[in-house]
Amino acid sequence: TKVYVPRDSSALSLGADEVAMAILVEASKRGISVDIIRNGSRGLFWLEPLVEVETAQGRIAYGPVQPQDVPGLFDQNFLTGGEHALRLGLMEEIAYLKNQERLTFARVGITDPVSLDDYLAHDGYRGLRRALQMSGAEVVKEVTDSGLRGRGGAAFPTGIKWNTVLNTAADQKYIVCNADEGDSGTYSDRMIMEGDPFVLIEGMTIAGIAVGATQGYIYLRSEYPHALQVLNEAIAVALTKGYLGENILGSGKTFHLEVRRGAGAYVCGEETSLLESLEGKRGIVRFKPPLPAIEGLFGKPTIINNVISLASVPIILDKGGAFYRDYGMGRSRGTLPIQLAGNLKHCGLVEKAFGVTLRELLYDYGGGSASGRPIRAVQVGGPLGAYLPESQFDTPLDYEAFANLWAVLGHGGIVAFDDTVDMAHMARYAMEFCAIESCGKCTPCRIGSTRGVEVVDKIIAGTDHAANVQLLRDLSDTMLNGSLCALGGMTPYPVLSALNHFPEDFGLKKNQQA
Ligand code: NAI
Ligand code: SF4
Repeated sequence: TKVYVPRDSSALSLGADEVAMAILVEASKRGISVDIIRNGSRGLFWLEPLVEVETAQGRIAYGPVQPQDVPGLFDQNFLTGGEHALRLGLMEEIAYLKNQERLTFARVGITDPVSLDDYLAHDGYRGLRRALQMSGAEVVKEVTDSGLRGRGGAAFPTGIKWNTVLNTAADQKYIVCNADEGDSGTYSDRMIMEGDPFVLIEGMTIAGIAVGATQGYIYLRSEYPHALQVLNEAIAVALTKGYLGENILGSGKTFHLEVRRGAGAYVCGEETSLLESLEGKRGIVRFKPPLPAIEGLFGKPTIINNVISLASVPIILDKGGAFYRDYGMGRSRGTLPIQLAGNLKHCGLVEKAFGVTLRELLYDYGGGSASGRPIRAVQVGGPLGAYLPESQFDTPLDYEAFANLWAVLGHGGIVAFDDTVDMAHMARYAMEFCAIESCGKCTPCRIGSTRGVEVVDKIIAGTDHAANVQLLRDLSDTMLNGSLCALGGMTPYPVLSALNHFPEDFGLKKNQQA
């Protein structure tokens, strides 16, 4: 019998290895043979470790399973889908999963991440095969037609970026994957790398073939040791089987791929400091222009894309740009892997077409707050994203709808807070975060963030209150308009949204904006 126990770090942190071991031990005690497959996580974290058993009806799920539950599961014949208090029914029928539109995450949790055969059996490498029949310009056009925009957060059209690299002549070009995933409360990059590494490898290979880049690098944050292991295993397999390296699938095309580890700096997720770091230098932001697409890694034209952007490419090439563009709303096409975190009952990954509202995500998926208290604020788009109050929960997830509220979707992370949150302290935290992570190259960010902490402290203490509130606004304005990169430039988002939507936490009257 096939039994699936995730190897994803979220499941491991909750004891998945111990559960897998307990199943093996119990099976051997009872003289039963089981085939344990270490899959990726389905992303329903409150049910991890989630064990699935393959039966004639489909995969039956049990969770959350602890090692001490295992003998009982055997007693109740879980290997044939038997009744048990932890039985969740058919995995695919669980509403949280069933109501999603999983395009990028189509295989995550279903396949064995490092089995190329499994990948191929689930439509893997169909995109690359098709791309190999097309010209570079045709591949780029397919990506442009899909409407895909950068999933790292900036939402720049991926096809246009690729086109710049395609049309820049050079003896060497590079594909760089930004896997630095530094935003708090985000984990979709990690889940793809741990749960379906081949889809990222395939996406990068397609990018390389499209623009004529023969070398790719995955810049992986050092905090992801499991992703490192899975990626390296998958790269080795792809190389042996002719999907990477020289003469890919007999096409005469070449693409080499390596993983490089970061060293823990948030700013190295900013593309130009990432390139500096990849070149072996200190991670300091570069001036733009020149854009990395023209002068990137080692001064050569470089496609630098987030993990999810690249991992969305294989399905676009396989099914066509029009198929992908059919999902979504307005100028936000396709799907977004949304990551629910913070004070919610059901945290996890929800891949949905753009257009789903915050309220649906927080209540229909998230199940409301874990504490049972009202949700007061949500921060969308990482530590540099704005806070949204309850009155904005009906906003659809759409880049433009968020921009109209002076908010960002970013990398799709949503962190919920209940009514015990103190928003002035959250504003202080944003400034403090910026002060710690600043690369130091420009003054508004380097000095402004430190002064910002002091000013928020004075507001909280009530010192010279009105003047300091005004000073915080002026300082935010300087950081917003004068910073060289998004770290200093976006810190005012959490600060000012907290001040504007929750003035009462800053000692101002409700609805009063100083
Ligand atoms: P940006 O708007 O400067 O650039 C977007 C991308 O488009 C860059 O790769 C840029 O090089 C490229 N580009 C612009 N014009 C181009 C052209 N004509 N041809 C080719 N390429 C072109 O934004 P930036 O500074 O790269 O990113 C800021 C975003 O990063 C923020 O919106 C934030 O949401 C996100 N972010 C994400 C984090 C994460 O962990 N994923 C962490 C922190 C911030
Ligand atoms: Fe460096 Fe901050 Fe300036 Fe960005 S905004 S270049 S992190 S000092």
